[in-house]
Amino acid sequence: MNKGYFITFEGADGCGKTTQLELLKDYLKNKRYDVVVTREPGAKGLGEKFREILLNYDGVVSDRCESFLFLADRSQNIDTIVKPAVSSGKIVLCDRHIDSSTAYQGYGRGLDIQQIKNLNSIATGGMLPDLTIVFDIDIETSMQRVGKNKDRMENSGVEFFNRVRNGYLELAKQEPDRIKVVDSTGSIEDIHKHVVSLVSNLLAM
Ligand code: TMP
Repeated sequence: MNKGYFITFEGADGCGKTTQLELLKDYLKNKRYDVVVTREPGAKGLGEKFREILLNYDGVVSDRCESFLFLADRSQNIDTIVKPAVSSGKIVLCDRHIDSSTAYQGYGRGLDIQQIKNLNSIATGGMLPDLTIVFDIDIETSMQRVGKNKDRMENSGVEFFNRVRNGYLELAKQEPDRIKVVDSTGSIEDIHKHVVSLVSNLLAM
């Protein structure tokens, strides 16, 4: 059986990670890898319900409540989708994961970073991605990409998103082996090539 891998895509809203995830999925499928795509929040099934609340609920959501909803969604994604797929030798591409909680709820909302990391570890049962790619872009550009039609999280303001961006860069410094930063201001094709080189190193293709 092939070895399974878990690769996560991260970055501030509008950074282009979802486009890049789709391109990598096609690339790997063309190379005959068995690929599973999932996302947080909003994996197939119960995750879709969490996503609806987290992005569209228009009443008050406390920062701690928001954190626990993301963590609950994460547990479900890990237990029902990610772990079974990786154990059966598949490559799982996940749009956002643990570092979103640390960057958004920790650095962005200002909750205790170490507590968020500990809660992440509980939510995942200690499983870590083999590779995390952070798509880095200035917030002015990313907010332009998001446009006027913003969801609950995207409405958090420029200062919030600058803290999120700096949070991701800080996390990449703390865990340089796992977290790789890709400059997301270039062309889609150039960014894709960078992603493929990172993933090729991991898979030793
Ligand atoms: P996206 O799926 O379009 O990237 O949107 C998900 C939103 O949820 C995005 O604003 C980031 C936010 N988020 C958190 O704040 N914490 C988390 O743990 C996760 C997974 C996402």
